[in-house]
Amino acid sequence: MKVILFGATGMVGQGVLRECLRDGGVTQVLVIGRSAAGQRDVKLTEIIRDDFLDYSDIEAQLAGFDACFFCLGVSSVGMDAERYRHLTYDITLAAAATLARLNPQMVFVYVTGAGTDSSEQGRVRWARVKGKTENDLLKLPFRAAYMFRPGAIQPLHGVRSKAAWVQAIYVAAAPLLSWLSRVAPKYVTTTEQMGRAMISVARDGYPKPVLESEDINRL
Ligand SMILES: NC(=O)c1ccc[n+]([C@@H]2O[C@H](COP(=O)([O-])OP(=O)(O)OC[C@H]3O[C@@H](n4cnc5c(N)ncnc54)[C@H](OP(=O)(O)O)[C@@H]3O)[C@@H](O)[C@H]2O)c1
Repeated sequence: MKVILFGATGMVGQGVLRECLRDGGVTQVLVIGRSAAGQRDVKLTEIIRDDFLDYSDIEAQLAGFDACFFCLGVSSVGMDAERYRHLTYDITLAAAATLARLNPQMVFVYVTGAGTDSSEQGRVRWARVKGKTENDLLKLPFRAAYMFRPGAIQPLHGVRSKAAWVQAIYVAAAPLLSWLSRVAPKYVTTTEQMGRAMISVARDGYPKPVLESEDINRL
């Protein structure tokens, strides 16, 4: 399986990259990001760029892939509405539309979050934006698309969040998260499990397009 990975420098993406590099069935990983993922592996190639809206200059390098794991994303905390929408909706759909055209056999996996609002009508801004992003991704002509909606994610194997405040919360909450993942797996998953579940749905599919933590942990 040949995989394109966005967001490999982030908390979720670092975990997903680790699992892709460890999985014998993943033969190639193309990382697309603003900076290097900081890994060396015979399976790994990287495209470093600033433009995440127009891929016409690299289309030839984006064809022939089986899956895209889209882990690029930001927190809405402290961000104005227009910028959050741009970083969440515009950037995601620009990449996905290009990839769907170049790889109609591709499986696309998008990381949203627990509480995403599929109705696009609710009171919570970030949830509406993520909901519209999910809904429009599901309309694209991929072989399949899966929306991952994790709640809390326990970072494992040295994975760190890009956002200092998120990292601080995860360090402080590590013992609690570790306990919660045992007693309430419905609400907590891990970076390792996110990566393993993405590979699993890309390879074998899943009965429904939206996966909560419970589904992610089952895979
Ligand atoms: N962490 C959690 O607990 C959690 C829980 C539920 C859902 N999620 C969702 O999972 C997704 C990823 O979260 P995360 O925790 O991995 O975030 P993170 O650690 O902050 O990483 C964000 C990733 O997105 C990239 N990115 C951000 N802005 C960008 C831009 N303007 N252009 C290009 N790349 C950009 C970053 O690249 P740079 O290195 O270039 O900045 C980085 O690779 C988000 O959609 C988030 O809502 C996270």
